[in-house]
Amino acid sequence: MTAQEAAELIHDGYTVGFSGFTPAGAAKAIPRAIAERAKAEHAQGRPFKIGVITGASTGESLDGSLAEAEAVAWRTPYQSNATLRKSINAGKTHFFDMHLSLLQQWIRYGFLGKVHMAVVEAADVTPDGEITLTTSVGAANTFLLHADKILLEINSHHPTELYGFHDIFEPEDPPHRREIPLYATRQRCGEAVVRVDPSRIAGVVFTDEKDEVGEFKDADEVTSRIGRNVADFLAGEIRAGRIPSSFLPIQSGVGNIANAVLGAMGEHPEIPRFEMYSEVIQDSVIDLMEADNLHFASGTSLTVSPRVLDNIYNNLDFFRRRMVLRPQEITNNPEIVRRLGIISINTAIEVDIFGNVNSTHIMGSNMMNGIGGSGDFTRNAYISIFTCPSAAKGGKISPIVPLCSHLDHSEHSVQVVITEQGIADLRGKDPLERAREIVKHCSHPDYREELSGYIKDVIGGHTPQSLNRAFNMHQRFLETGSMKEG
Ligand code: COA
Repeated sequence: MTAQEAAELIHDGYTVGFSGFTPAGAAKAIPRAIAERAKAEHAQGRPFKIGVITGASTGESLDGSLAEAEAVAWRTPYQSNATLRKSINAGKTHFFDMHLSLLQQWIRYGFLGKVHMAVVEAADVTPDGEITLTTSVGAANTFLLHADKILLEINSHHPTELYGFHDIFEPEDPPHRREIPLYATRQRCGEAVVRVDPSRIAGVVFTDEKDEVGEFKDADEVTSRIGRNVADFLAGEIRAGRIPSSFLPIQSGVGNIANAVLGAMGEHPEIPRFEMYSEVIQDSVIDLMEADNLHFASGTSLTVSPRVLDNIYNNLDFFRRRMVLRPQEITNNPEIVRRLGIISINTAIEVDIFGNVNSTHIMGSNMMNGIGGSGDFTRNAYISIFTCPSAAKGGKISPIVPLCSHLDHSEHSVQVVITEQGIADLRGKDPLERAREIVKHCSHPDYREELSGYIKDVIGGHTPQSLNRAFNMHQRFLETGSMKEG
């Protein structure tokens, strides 16, 4: 059918589970048609809004079009689209921010209500209902198995030879759940396809479209220094015998800093060839693979720029042996993260001097993207690392603050903080020791005096804190446009 005919099957008030984890593997033609339908309904004075669930963020055709058409009543578990973010922060779209590992079981448990339609991009479907996904798995397998009906976008941009790149495993629910039988990064424990009853497929739309993944910014002086500091820290841990010399699997967050960190790890002479057990496989991972610095990557999405994806599709056999795409409840699973001893490296918006981290909110109230998988990995990691620049917005903001304006990861889970200034190792330190370590090694010189002054002046208790002064820097930014004094 056409995308427009498919959109006619979606009704006001529906909950739709769309494939997509980042723009990789996201449905495109049907959401665009749903957005057009919403606009037409609104023009007639009729309501049309849906609940949108995906794996994580998606591309312009999905979150962008639907938000622009004011068609999103509620959204979970993560987003990064500017139009949608605006709608969320204006209170027009209800957004609830979830640990990504929880999404699939929440759908099975019924915590999010009924999913009326799964809209999933696929490379292939057989008459028996065996579906080969494209560049991400995310939560698509759960939408396919548990939604009332299914609409497929068969996207011929992705070769059917993607068969074998995926490892689909869906655990039983309590009280019958057993361990996930995965004991090494490169091991497989599931099937190459998602199997559905073909009678549940309400329609198939044929497309030929690229993933809407943008190019990454090249590393700059600050992100390169952060990357080098992370690599130096890990090399030091190997030297000290706290990380096995064979090394451990790496999880790395998304974005420009994460890209620079991986690049620096590949260049460091003391970091051995390593494996990734992560969420997103991005450009830098492929570069490392081709340079033979990385021998295997397990993720839930292949979020690479079009140039890199073309390269992968021209060398499918090389990459098939070196990567696997799994559901997000497996890539981010606390049981597996703890078992494999993952080293997690994520980016913070704010870190406070005691080691609490804000990954999601600007100035305490405005949602940026969401917690994503950062909590899944941080809480269970062998070593959990957070990176950020010591100054943001041209120096007007210090991401190192006396107290986070929003909390995502607490001092109990955050072990190491790294900026371009240096490394703060928080392990085994009490709150005051952590504060001194973070201010000394991670803060920007422009803010160090004020932060040191805060530690000196505020005395008493186990965690010295002044409820009057803790948000002075934030308050100053809101009033003057800069956190700087004077
Ligand atoms: N206050 C205000 N703005 C801030 C800020 C702060 N303390 N810290 C960063 N920012 C802004 C930057 O200026 C930038 O703004 P711009 O887009 O207008 O230029 C934006 O936030 C992104 O920061 P950037 O330095 O480019 O880093 P990034 O691309 O690596 O993204 C996060 C950083 C925190 C937004 C991103 O990593 C994220 O969403 N994390 C949460 C989810 C997560 O960790 N997922 C990984 C798990 S696998």
